[in-house]
Amino acid sequence: MNCIIKTESEIERMKTSGKIAAEVLEMIEEYVKPNISTEEINNICHDFIIKKKAVSACLGYHGFPKSICVSINDVVCHGIPNKNQILKSGDIVNIDITIIKNNYHADTSKMFLVGKTSTLSKRLCKIAQESLYKSLNILKPGIPLYKIGEVIQNYVENNNFSVVKEYCGHGIGRSFHEEPYVLHYKNKSNIILEKGMIFTIEPMINAGSHEVKCMKDGWTVKTKDHSLSAQYEHTVLIIENGCDILTWQKNETIPSKLINK
Ligand code: MF3
Ligand code: CO
Ligand code: CO
Repeated sequence: MNCIIKTESEIERMKTSGKIAAEVLEMIEEYVKPNISTEEINNICHDFIIKKKAVSACLGYHGFPKSICVSINDVVCHGIPNKNQILKSGDIVNIDITIIKNNYHADTSKMFLVGKTSTLSKRLCKIAQESLYKSLNILKPGIPLYKIGEVIQNYVENNNFSVVKEYCGHGIGRSFHEEPYVLHYKNKSNIILEKGMIFTIEPMINAGSHEVKCMKDGWTVKTKDHSLSAQYEHTVLIIENGCDILTWQKNETIPSKLINK
């Protein structure tokens, strides 16, 4: 049975998994440049994950055909890597990595800005990342789960962008997706955060309308109005007085452990 509160030994394994997922994003940075195909990016990540003696949780997940998700411009999430899809200057690209190591999952994603990008693209990515960071800055035992959605929606809408409602953050551990489910918009979840909970926060932010549609491939989700979309995701552990970002990367502007008094 999955418990919403992880044991010490589960937490140790989750830290190991989180570190590997973060390393994939650190490693792939130098390759995310004009003229590479999304399939090549997939293959480089796949080989790196295998080298770490881990496996991709995405490959074969409900039939997903590749090892990572790569979502470009108006693709909101779950983009399928393809050899004919070539990055070009101006693209904004989300790479979403979920790995399994010692039976425990870690899930993280970030945006890459390819070549010279527009002012709007840069602002959208910045607001998406800051919305995640602002939610991380309130996490501690005793806080109700609904606060996360409140902080994210308020921040995003104050910046004239919109929050996608169809996809949410999730508890994570032995399973890819488990309780608690974490909405990124205003809601009434009564769940109270406790030490030892591990879940993702992964807001998807659109430059235009919040509405999305799934393509005929059954996976690729795009904005309905073809506006740009950006997403950042971390796997976080609730600790005494704050949170530990298990998928923290070396180049981030926030510390890996946040004390939220
Ligand atoms: N990584 C996604 C999440 O954040 C899920 C991807 S499922 C896949 O929950 F099958 F598309 F890989
Ligand atoms: Co996730
Ligand atoms: Co993810």
